[in-house]
Amino acid sequence: EFVLRLAKSGIELVVPSDRTIIEVIREAGIEIKTSCEQGVCGTCITEVLEGELEHNDLYLSPDEQEGGRLIMPCVSRCTSRLLVLNI
Ligand code: FES
Repeated sequence: EFVLRLAKSGIELVVPSDRTIIEVIREAGIEIKTSCEQGVCGTCITEVLEGELEHNDLYLSPDEQEGGRLIMPCVSRCTSRLLVLNI
């Protein structure tokens, strides 16, 4: 699991290993746009401010994945203790 901080509100949420980032954000009552929820469509693209990423999507280019500044939170995860998203 890891801690998810939403930079704009300062809210911190725990993302357990069996839940997606999107699920945890929604449970907290925060709106986030999605469509495929399979890492393909690009709808949920989100800016990353901090955190080591595990990319499980098929949308970002290898360069974008390597850059570590974008994540598809419907399928991808964080491997460090803290993930900070610019939402
Ligand atoms: Fe389609 Fe995340 S909702 S890539």
